[in-house]
Formats: sequence, C-alpha cells, structure tokens
Amino acid sequence: MLKSIRVNIVACLLLLCFAASANELKTSAAPVTPSPAPAPATDYVNLAELLSVAGPFHIFLKYLESTKLIDTFQDQANKTEEGITLFVPKDEAFSSIRKPASLSNLTQDQLKSVLSFHAIPHYYSLSDFRNLSLGNPIPTFAGGPNFGLNFTDNAGTIRIDSGWTSTKVISAVHAADPVAIYETDKVLLPEAIFGTDIPPLPPAPSPAPAAEAPAADTPSAAADKGSSSSSSSSHSKSAATSSRKNTVVGHLVTAIVGVLLVLLCS
Ligand SMILES: *[C@@H]1O[C@H](CO)[C@@H](O)[C@H](O)[C@H]1NC(C)=O
Ligand SMILES: *[C@@H]1O[C@H](CO)[C@@H](O)[C@H](O)[C@H]1NC(C)=O
Ligand SMILES: *[C@@H]1O[C@H](CO)[C@@H](O)[C@H](O)[C@H]1NC(C)=O
Ligand SMILES: *[C@@H]1O[C@H](CO)[C@@H](O)[C@H](O)[C@H]1NC(C)=O
Repeated sequence: MLKSIRVNIVACLLLLCFAASANELKTSAAPVTPSPAPAPATDYVNLAELLSVAGPFHIFLKYLESTKLIDTFQDQANKTEEGITLFVPKDEAFSSIRKPASLSNLTQDQLKSVLSFHAIPHYYSLSDFRNLSLGNPIPTFAGGPNFGLNFTDNAGTIRIDSGWTSTKVISAVHAADPVAIYETDKVLLPEAIFGTDIPPLPPAPSPAPAAEAPAADTPSAAADKGSSSSSSSSHSKSAATSSRKNTVVGHLVTAIVGVLLVLLCS
C-alpha cells in the first residue's frame, strides 16, 4: 500500500519533469528560428548596390548603368586576384563641371572613356598611392597612354591630376581587397577628350554650391537612417514581446498539466 503510493508519486514527479522540460525546449527553441542566417563569407562586393546607398553617387551610377560599364567594372571586381579601384564623384560634382567642358555633347564612346577614366583595373589601398605615384601616369580602364592619371601622396592626402582636373581623394567609401571606392569632389576629365586648352582655375570658390550641398544631402539621408533604425528596433521589440508571451503561455500549460497529473495520480 505505502509502496504503491510512493511509486505513484515518483511516476507523477517524472511526468511533471517531462512536461516541464518539453515546454522549456519548445520555448527556448522558438526565438532562435527567426534570427537571420549568417551571411556567406565571400569576397563578392556588389558595386551597384554599394554606390546606390553611399554618396549620393546616383549620377555616376546612372551613367555606369546606361553605358553598361557597371557590368565591366563588376566583372573586374569579381576577379579577386586583381580587383578594382574606383574614383567616384558625388552628384554635385557633375553640376560644377567647368565650361567649356560638358558631358552632354559627348558621343557614347567618349562618355565611356570618361567614365572608364575613373577606374584602375587593380585594387589599391590608400597606403599604396605613395608608391604608385612613382609610376605616373597610371593607366586606367580607358586604356592607352593618353588616359593615365597622376597621383601624388602629400602627407596622406592623395591628389589626382588628369590635366583638366586636379582634385583629391575625399574619403574611402569602401577599401577592402579586392574593391576600393574613393570619393572625389570632381569629375575626372581626360585631356585626350577635352583637349589641352585647359581653362584657368576660377578666381574663388563660389559659396552657392557649398550652401546648396548640405541642404540637398543631410535631411533626406538623416531621415532615411532615422526611419530605418527606428523601424528595425520596433521590430525587434515586438519579437521580444511575443517570445515573452510564449514563455508565459508555456509556464501556464506546464502548471495546468502538473495539476491535472497530480489529480489523476492521487
Ligand atoms: C559577379 O559575381 C556575382 C557573385 O558570384 C555574380 O552573381 C555576378 O553575376 C558576377 N557579375 C559579373 C559581371 O561577373
Ligand atoms: C561641347 O560643346 C561645347 C559648346 O557648347 C564645346 O565648346 C565643346 O568643345 C563640345 N565638346 C565636345 C567634346 O564636342
Ligand atoms: C613599392 O616599393 C617597394 C619597395 O620600396 C617595391 O618593392 C614595390 O615594387 C613598389 N610597388 C609599386 C607598385 O611600385
Ligand atoms: C603626369 O606625370 C608625368 C610624369 O611625371 C608627367 O610627364 C605628366 O605631365 C603629368 N601629367 C599631368 C596631367 O600632370
């Protein structure tokens, strides 16, 4: 008699343990499922995607897409042994191209040459440029001796000279072998297309474009960032609440099963 009661109690305890642990398993496994799978480790860098979110480099990207050069550059970026170095002018650089130069009356081939003039078929980190400047002019994707760029490393500031354009690297948008993308504040114009009749530098930088630039840049970029980060945080918050709800439900189920088992056993 006493023995069978003890056996019953042990059986009930065992059943309770099973029920509880089954629930624990269920609730602890649930939050793991929605987390994103780890990104595959490759060297692949999607140039169009990168250029569409940085900058703004929309005009340069639009030209690369209309001339299909984006595929040529992406193909080069995919060759991870060589890689690519791109000099990318921001949108406002296109509106400040000095007369008489203009991209609007170029033939398609000339336009392709101008765009290819912004790429070197090799990956160069910023620290490579000191050395690289010893080999000036450096050949570009536009090919031939007439489409070379001159670089000078002036205490870490890298200047780029094309004859028509003298500018510098503003920042590195992306610099990880095999893809380097450097922002410039000017479109690089080759002498081979625009001639040697180089216009003199303007007397002083006009304040108008500088005042326009931040107004065009900042609010939309800030608004984009703000909305995306707040939406993602509210998303994770709701995920946390639902997993907490699951746990509460799980504990309730465990308790009810336990009470039922105790009633059945006794
Ligand atoms: C570059 O590589 C990616 C990923 O392997 C591939 O999807 C893409 O088609 C390639 N693009 C070019 C232009 O080779
Ligand atoms: C484009 O047109 C301007 C005048 O509007 C001219 O001075 C310039 O030489 C032209 N460029 C080319 C490459 O034909
Ligand atoms: C850079 O300089 C080193 C020695 O100082 C040399 O071995 C190397 O070939 C140079 N690289 C380039 C790209 O000139
Ligand atoms: C580039 O450098 C080479 C060699 O120093 C020089 O002969 C050439 O004139 C330079 N070109 C420009 C546009 O500065």
